[in-house]
Amino acid sequence: MQYRPLGASGIQASVVGLGTWAMGGWMWGGSDDAAAIRAIHAALDAGMNLLDTAPIYGFGRSEEIVGKAIAGRRDQVVLATKCGLVWQGDQGDHFFDTDDDHPRQGGDRRIYRFLGPESIRREVEDSLRRLGTDVIDLYQTHWQETTTAIEDTMAALLDLKDQGKIRAIGASNATPEQLGKYAAAGQIDSDQELFGMLDRAKAAGDLDYCAEHGVAFLAYSPLAQGLLTGKVGPDRVFEAGDQRSRKARFSVENRQRVADLLAAFEPVRAKHGVDFAQLTIAWTVAQRGCSHALVGARTPEQALANARGGEVVLDAEDLALLDAALAAHGPAIV
Ligand SMILES: NC(=O)c1ccc[n+]([C@@H]2O[C@H](COP(=O)([O-])OP(=O)(O)OC[C@H]3O[C@@H](n4cnc5c(N)ncnc54)[C@H](OP(=O)(O)O)[C@@H]3O)[C@@H](O)[C@H]2O)c1
Repeated sequence: MQYRPLGASGIQASVVGLGTWAMGGWMWGGSDDAAAIRAIHAALDAGMNLLDTAPIYGFGRSEEIVGKAIAGRRDQVVLATKCGLVWQGDQGDHFFDTDDDHPRQGGDRRIYRFLGPESIRREVEDSLRRLGTDVIDLYQTHWQETTTAIEDTMAALLDLKDQGKIRAIGASNATPEQLGKYAAAGQIDSDQELFGMLDRAKAAGDLDYCAEHGVAFLAYSPLAQGLLTGKVGPDRVFEAGDQRSRKARFSVENRQRVADLLAAFEPVRAKHGVDFAQLTIAWTVAQRGCSHALVGARTPEQALANARGGEVVLDAEDLALLDAALAAHGPAIV
């Protein structure tokens, strides 16, 4: 496993981090707690010290699973969670409605984006309790909102840092301009954004910002939610509560286009003796500005395999072949 700094925090985190959204079950068609805990243990055993969670992942369930899994192993973990997606009030920007089992089809939970100081102070206590710890290593604002000045949000986060409740501050789903505002108000150590072979546009400005300012960049959904593993064949059926069941990206036609793309990767895959998930992960953390990839897994087998992606180093020739395949096949892929 390779390790890289989380900005200027002094924390070294594995280039492959374990994403625990799916472990919360919500939007992923349910989950198996025991398998999730085994997956976290497998990740830690394989040198993956970075664990990323959030309160909204199963409305506390993912954080509680992580808390159970790291009990007795807290010192081996770079623990990252988030604040700012709330379901306990109506302050901030209304985001979407949901229920505990289903994606955004309406429901009795009204989700707001809110980063007010009082709300953050309440959220951090809830997360610390669920995670069974007294300090969060990386505390990230999950989504940005329009009702609180970034300076006020940052002041609350800096207070938490002074109190020793968090060690580093990050932002997620932020523009380069918003990152600049955070940096002007204090030390921002990381940015988290959608980024991967099939999702390059949204993060382009952020990657430049992070490369130029020494901020860590944590890519989320780098496997395109499993599609780039090469293991989502035409027969795979997703549960009704799994967001992928309703996405054009997971249509059978699109799966075939992705299969054509992966076939073009074959020479590089074979050269390194890896699978397509590992190859994709290695490509992701080789991109300028991208220091870490957060990869979701729900089983020990997936976690173990993905950790190996953090050991593969692609050379310029490999990257050129992969980029040429992406240029040829990428535009047809949804
Ligand atoms: N900040 C944000 O707004 C935000 C948004 C999205 C994600 N994230 C973070 O980023 C993390 C990763 O993103 P993600 O979970 O959306 O997507 P992802 O990492 O692209 O894909 C995860 C899914 O891919 C499949 N998979 C993973 N490894 C596999 C392997 N070796 N073989 C076969 N299938 C494999 C699994 O699907 P199955 O479970 O079906 O097997 C897994 O749930 C999240 O967990 C979360 O921590 C953050």
